[in-house]
Amino acid sequence: MTRAGAGHGSALLVLERSALLGGISEEPDRLTRRFATEALAHAGEVVAVWLREAGMSVRRDNAGNVVGRYDADRTGRRTLIVGSHLDSVRDAGRFDGPLGVLVGIAAVERLHARGQRLPFAVEVIGFADEEGVRFGTAYLGSKVVAGRFDMDYLRLTDEDGVTMADAIREAGGIPESLAADAWSGSGALGYCEVHIEQGPLLEAEGLPVGVVSTIAGQSRLRVTLSGEAGHAGTVPMELRRDALTGAAELVLAAESTARDEPGLVATVGELAVSPGAGNVVPGRVTLSLDVRHGDDTVRERACARLREQAEAIAAGRGLESEWRALQETPAVPTSLELSGLLERAVEELGLPVRRLTSGAGHDAVIMADLAPIAMLFVRCAGGISHNPAESVTEDDVAVAIDVLSRILELLAEVES
Ligand code: GLV
Ligand code: MN
Ligand code: MN
Repeated sequence: MTRAGAGHGSALLVLERSALLGGISEEPDRLTRRFATEALAHAGEVVAVWLREAGMSVRRDNAGNVVGRYDADRTGRRTLIVGSHLDSVRDAGRFDGPLGVLVGIAAVERLHARGQRLPFAVEVIGFADEEGVRFGTAYLGSKVVAGRFDMDYLRLTDEDGVTMADAIREAGGIPESLAADAWSGSGALGYCEVHIEQGPLLEAEGLPVGVVSTIAGQSRLRVTLSGEAGHAGTVPMELRRDALTGAAELVLAAESTARDEPGLVATVGELAVSPGAGNVVPGRVTLSLDVRHGDDTVRERACARLREQAEAIAAGRGLESEWRALQETPAVPTSLELSGLLERAVEELGLPVRRLTSGAGHDAVIMADLAPIAMLFVRCAGGISHNPAESVTEDDVAVAIDVLSRILELLAEVES
């Protein structure tokens, strides 16, 4: 059944735009759009056109964040920020990130079409990095905006040995000027992000949208095990210092640690085996480890335990281990006040309010440093995300646009 809400034409446009952005990729046959790549810059240019068409002035900062601004009426001094990210994982779906940017544009388009100004400005931001795929540190885009970018990150290298500083330069930014891109406007009234749920709860409960109460904390680690490369045909098994067999043990240790702790998730999603030949005993393995829980003490305890296990595995196999924390972000509760308005907007559409915890990380985590945050989740088919099968319906997108538009009106009442 199709909702009769005013958001329908816009919802279709959001889906068409998602499809168009979904075709802008570093790789020919799948969607991969990492930080500071040509594909990301291209997506940013396309989004900039839509921002302008929606009546906004547009700028791009040194990190590659694209920012559209819809000015306030003459009384307004503060700014509501709406946004999400334009980068993606490898072989991504088309909605994780772009949906929030496009729904934000749709809500501003509605204001623009009516010639309406609010007692606050609205900025729509397409962040340049939330996923952290290229350099292992998530939230680079929002960290720049929130003034939390650590200049030491500039020395991190990607899989091709390119430093972050060079990658930013290559993409047209000036790394030395990143600090100047921190938010410096008049007060940030709030940050509101629409995102696909990336989980199955809304679908299971037959609900189009939900309101996020907390975003789980996460640790992103890089573990290196080093042994000795050797000939696969001649080095006897008992004399090997095989880094990959050690890594395999650690992968299983991460799985069982997470299974033993309710709510804990631990993932090894990358494994780089060196030198990487079928007839060579692996001499070195670097693996990523992503650990998350809604309770920071549980996550920290699990990481400490996994570190001990990595050291014990290495010692037992004559390997050396190096443990490097790339990023630690605590769990972040959303603002009761701003979420309350979001809930009111949902209720006014005649929908039940469902509060959810987010296991996934979001730009809102970092933007919480700058302003009260609120997040609206949109049902996604099968709860599938980080997968090209990601999908949302036009009806649900229409609801999201209606809710975001309504929260703008509710905030206008509060602000005037
Ligand atoms: C982002 O999608 C994350 O939670 O890793
Ligand atoms: Mn994601
Ligand atoms: Mn996302």
